[in-house]
Amino acid sequence: MGDPESLNPAGDGRIMTEVKSIAVIGAGTMGGGIALTAAMSGINAFQVDINSEQLDRAKAYHAKTLARSVEKQRMTQADADAATKRITYVTDMSASSAADWAVEAATEHVEVKKKLFQAMRAAYRDDVVLATNTSSISITDLASAVGDAASRVIGMHFFNPVPVMKLVEVIKGLATAEDVTARTIALAERMGKTAIPANDRAGFVSNRVLMPMINEAFYAWMDGVAEPEAIDEIMKLGCNFPMGPLRLADFIGLDVCHDIMMVLHRELGQDKYFPCPLLRQLVTAGRLGDKTKRGVYAY
Ligand code: 3HC
Repeated sequence: MGDPESLNPAGDGRIMTEVKSIAVIGAGTMGGGIALTAAMSGINAFQVDINSEQLDRAKAYHAKTLARSVEKQRMTQADADAATKRITYVTDMSASSAADWAVEAATEHVEVKKKLFQAMRAAYRDDVVLATNTSSISITDLASAVGDAASRVIGMHFFNPVPVMKLVEVIKGLATAEDVTARTIALAERMGKTAIPANDRAGFVSNRVLMPMINEAFYAWMDGVAEPEAIDEIMKLGCNFPMGPLRLADFIGLDVCHDIMMVLHRELGQDKYFPCPLLRQLVTAGRLGDKTKRGVYAY
């Protein structure tokens, strides 16, 4: 673990507290995965959500995933028990005010996130990094909600399923301080991830490249190039994708894919980013993928 305090990696001599605990705001799929990954890496986690049922679902997911890791002999029962004890589930953000780091993983609505960032600024110490797991909302825009704390705001973009996926895309806003970027990379690495920085443009790198590819798969289906099963098998077997793009769209959520395309379209201003009509139609019909048991496929 090292000393509780260490010199600022930016080399400006400021003393910073070592990250012993992180607050994860939002207990959905991503927030639940981030809290679990932290706990499995020896970091205490406050899992924060105003919805206690969501917290119960996250707790059940944590128990199931840890039990699976023990069963697969990836960790001992004692390590799994220790990880379980590291997670504290709270419905009130103020109960997590001792956290040394905060990651917001709430719903992808800019106004909701801005209000959360204002609450986070008030709840946590002045040296606490205020990170967001947003998939496409501008970091600079979110940072504008917290005044001079904007230098502590950064994107920490995890991928689903968080315990399995190796990447954290680190996104610097216009005001993000250099040392905040360095500390974010260091924390992601402590969580067993490879951290790669990118700049704050719509979709960053991952969704700027992934989502138009998924959107194009909907066009291929709509244009009758092939049926979904064939499109997915072609991309799996021919391009070595673990999941075909349409299966992946169901996994991510068709509404999420649609909304990210709309962000790319609005922010980058090109027609090529407009969501495919068939994708829009499925979303309108409520066929959102795995979470509604029907999307491109039925589950
Ligand atoms: N949580 C924890 N562990 C999980 C998990 C989860 N939700 N889902 C799967 N795993 C584990 C399983 O336990 C299994 O480990 P084990 O069998 O050794 O115990 C291992 O992962 C492999 O799982 P499966 O055998 O069930 O199935 P697969 O081999 O098909 O792998 C997958 C599943 C890891 C999801 C794989 O299909 C994959 O990598 N798919 C692509 C996922 C992807 O692209 N994610 C990024 C989405 S984009 C994103 O998140 C960004 C956002 O901004 C949109």
